[in-house]
Amino acid sequence: MALQIIVGAQWGDEGKGRIVDWFAADSDYVARYNGGDNAGHSVTVGPKLFKLHLIPSGIIHPKPVAVLGNGMVVNPKAFLDETDMLQKAGVEINPQRLRISYAAHLITPAHMALDKAQEVARGKGNIGTTGRGIGPAYTDKATRRGLRVGDLLAPDFLQHLSAQIDEANQQLSFLGASPIDNGAVVEEFQRCREAMLPYIADTSLELCNAISAGQRILAEGAQGTLLDIDHGTYPFVTSSSTVASGVFTGLGIGVTAAEGAQVTGVCKSFQTRVGSGPFPTEVFDDLALRLRGTGQNPWDEYGTTTGRARRVGWLDGVLLRYAVRVNGMTELVITKLDILSGFQTLQLCVGYHQNGKTIVDLSFGPSNLEGYEPVYQELPGWAEDVSAIRTWDDLPAAAKGYLDAIAHLAGVPVRLASVGPEREQMVENK
Ligand code: GDP
Ligand code: IMO
Ligand code: MG
Repeated sequence: MALQIIVGAQWGDEGKGRIVDWFAADSDYVARYNGGDNAGHSVTVGPKLFKLHLIPSGIIHPKPVAVLGNGMVVNPKAFLDETDMLQKAGVEINPQRLRISYAAHLITPAHMALDKAQEVARGKGNIGTTGRGIGPAYTDKATRRGLRVGDLLAPDFLQHLSAQIDEANQQLSFLGASPIDNGAVVEEFQRCREAMLPYIADTSLELCNAISAGQRILAEGAQGTLLDIDHGTYPFVTSSSTVASGVFTGLGIGVTAAEGAQVTGVCKSFQTRVGSGPFPTEVFDDLALRLRGTGQNPWDEYGTTTGRARRVGWLDGVLLRYAVRVNGMTELVITKLDILSGFQTLQLCVGYHQNGKTIVDLSFGPSNLEGYEPVYQELPGWAEDVSAIRTWDDLPAAAKGYLDAIAHLAGVPVRLASVGPEREQMVENK
């Protein structure tokens, strides 16, 4: 199988980074196809905790070449800070094993300032963005004014940048926000530009050649299905195609090249969300604290990128079925099974109730979830600590029952369950 796509089945933070790390050892390429440094992918390897925002999580393994695809928006400073961090942690970084598509778009400080100013202007209806400039950078792409990574090669790049900052300052002033220092941005880009040039490549050509040669590509999704610009809980979404089909536009791979592609949906054993928007199975108070954790552990539910407390709730099977459908998922990986140890019973949302009717499939997508009451199936919990378990048969019967119920609802098998953040804390369903 030449192509495996790792995609988030919920609102992001499902544990995609560590699952990519699991599959990356034997891959020839690991490629991000969407988003930017709004992502926060944590990978724990022994005593080291890597928090990756832009660079594919597979880079930690020595073999794969890491690719930032054309569907991404790239902040040069964030890129260089991250390569620096990785190098200091002993990861080999050089243009032989890391490439950025010439057609990816650049994020400038103007995009970040606009992101924040637009959120202020939205007031109570704010999206709760990460403030990384994602929306404004994709806006410039869609309105055909964006600067692309390949533009860094042009001799007059800095003039174009300066003109873009001038325009952004007009918009900032319209929003009542302070202008940004044009000269300082140009200076920062002058520095970053030199360092970035060796990494620029035609990654579409390279990936297509790799597929023709029978090499293995692992595509790393950022965010999750419910944050997709088309298929998510619009308008409380991000600005990119997070779903599996985003791989084809976001990497420049032809759809026919993907014969036998595997789409692995990563789903947390409960539901979380950062930022605003609907969340039918959300829980509060003591139960929320129990699922979220207090912040003492690195895996507790606080955002990797912004540090915000994540909203938490029971696993929503209606939204999971939807995610399986719009991604064409072939299998699931369930993460954080260890967090559910100690619950006497678990609630699994198996349908929504509205006006006397129960539905299991959404008919108009997930944007308007007002008025739906989750219908829960109560399942037995388990007391045992599962974090040291490595074989499926050793899982408590109730844990296997919970995973079976998820697979049944989703209509696809659960291939793996993770029982802790460490690389080897994984149980395979063989
Ligand atoms: P991503 O954005 O989908 O890559 O997910 P994040 O890295 O933002 O959030 C997932 C968090 O859960 C990280 O802190 C991971 O280290 C942690 N994690 C992943 N899988 C497990 C697991 O099975 N158990 C526990 N306790 N933590 C996990
Ligand atoms: P990973 O890859 C969770 C959310 C933000 C906000 C909305 C729009 O780590 O799963 P944006 O800055 O993208 O314009 O914000 O999307 N969001 C994420 N939530 N995990 C992420 O990435 C996210 N990236 C963006 O909180 O609600
Ligand atoms: Mg994350």
